[in-house]
This record gives sequence, structure tokens and C-alpha cells, in this order.
Amino acid sequence: MKPLRQIEVRNLSKEFVLHLQDGLHMPIFSLVDMDVDGGECVVIHAPSGAGKSTLLRCLYANYRASSGSVNIRHVPDRNGGGDGDWVDLTTASPQQIHAVRRTTLGFVTQFLRVIPRITTLDLVAEPLISRGMAVDEAQDQAKSWLARLKIAPRLWQVPPATFSGGEQQRVNIARTLISDFPILLLDEPTASLDEGNRDTVIAMIQEACDRGTAVVGIFHDEYVRRALATRLFPLEAIQSVAMEA
Ligand SMILES: Nc1ncnc2c1ncn2[C@@H]1O[C@H](COP(=O)(O)OP(=O)(O)OP(=O)(O)O)[C@@H](O)[C@H]1O
Ligand SMILES: [Mg+2]
Repeated sequence: MKPLRQIEVRNLSKEFVLHLQDGLHMPIFSLVDMDVDGGECVVIHAPSGAGKSTLLRCLYANYRASSGSVNIRHVPDRNGGGDGDWVDLTTASPQQIHAVRRTTLGFVTQFLRVIPRITTLDLVAEPLISRGMAVDEAQDQAKSWLARLKIAPRLWQVPPATFSGGEQQRVNIARTLISDFPILLLDEPTASLDEGNRDTVIAMIQEACDRGTAVVGIFHDEYVRRALATRLFPLEAIQSVAMEA
């Protein structure tokens, strides 16, 4: 059976309007089309500053697109069966975007948005608990993700605010990948990791793809790209300097 399409981007354009610079318009990319099927790992490939992270943030609706559409196949209830419904994140309500992010769309950035006072274990177990899993079971799963990512057990009861960059990144990966989202957006998830942890994360992403997850990633590291990419997606940046409004 052919894998289902999970992401359909059409004519997506993004420009920033710099209000502190008299409304200067800074076009980043225009008319991007992108289709991603389940099981694919599409790697956005372009030089630094070309707009790769901006594109990923538009796919997560962190940045509002200037024009175009970002359709995501949203599965509201993973146990309910069915193929899900298309939701266009460029026109969706905040509630719809929240729902898509809860069950369908995961995003790993290089940085963990730390919530003060919540322990690492609770942070990683929370997505499962919020979906109705018993606390003990969710914590057991969280422990096994943390152990596989070599987060020392002495750190599990500590909030990750004081963790090193690489530790925070691994907590971030555990918290997102534990949810088994059908779609994953990954912005340099291995950037701060040593080789051993990098290989673990490569294996985790590969396992997700093998289960049918659709992945869109940015990986500067050639080794990671070669290991994971089923296809490169060249992003053509708009070369012009910022234009006057
Ligand atoms: N919120 C913002 N406001 C204004 N300009 C922005 C904003 N976010 C990004 N940019 C600009 O958009 C351009 C593309 O940035 P982006 O972070 O998407 O590049 P990138 O391809 O991910 O680069 P890198 O490989 O270095 O991470 C840059 O010139 C950046 O300054
Ligand atoms: Mg970037």
C-alpha cells in the first residue's frame, strides 16, 4: 500500500517586515511547493541564512506565512483509526493549531524551551499523560527514552534548566519522539551531540521513518544527511537584499 501524503505545501512565500526599520520588507523565499509522504525523510538543503529554519517554522505555524498554504494531515485521535483530515495551518484557528501540535506534528529545535520547576522525567512523560496514559506507565517509557539518550538517572528528578546544551537537546528529542507523531519537523537535532548520541538519534529518527512517520529535517552534518535523507529539498533563497516597503 502506498504511504499517505502527510504534508502538502503550495506557493508558500515568506517575507519579514522589519517594523523597527521603517517597515523594511525582507523577502526570504517565495512560491515553495513541497509534498512529503509517510516514511520519507526530506532534508531541506541550502546555505546558512537561506531560510531553512524560517521554512520549518512556517510549517509549524510559528511564523505566519506571507502567502500560500501548508496542509497537514491531522489525526485528532490516534486510536480512532481513519486517515485524518487536511488542516491548512496558514488559515487554521489557534485552537486548531494547538490540536495539530498535540497529536500530529512534532518539532525539535536545537533549543529546549525549559519550563521552570518541572523535572526532566515529568517533562518527557507529560505528552503521554496528556493523552491519557497512566502516570507510572508514562514515566517508565520516559525513563527508557532518557536512558537510551544517556541522560544520567541522577538528572531525572532535576529540571533541565541548568543542563548542558547537549543534555537539553537530548531531553528535547526524548520529549518529542516519545509522542510518536505522524509528522516530525527537525531543525538540527544533532547539532550539539557527541558521535555516540548522534548515532542514537539517527537510529531513533530512522525507526520513526520505518514506522511511517513523515520527517522534514535540517541537518548540517553531511554524515547525518547521508544516513537519513530519502530526498534533498533545495531551498532557493531570494538573493536580493532587503527592499524598501
Ligand atoms: N524573526 C525574524 N525577523 C527578521 N528576520 C528574520 C527572522 N528570522 C529569520 N530572519 C532572517 O531570515 C533569514 C533566514 O534565516 P534562517 O534562520 O531561516 O536561515 P537558515 O537557512 O536556517 O540558516 P542557518 O543554516 O544558519 O541556520 C536570515 O537572514 C535571518 O536574519
Ligand atoms: Mg537554521
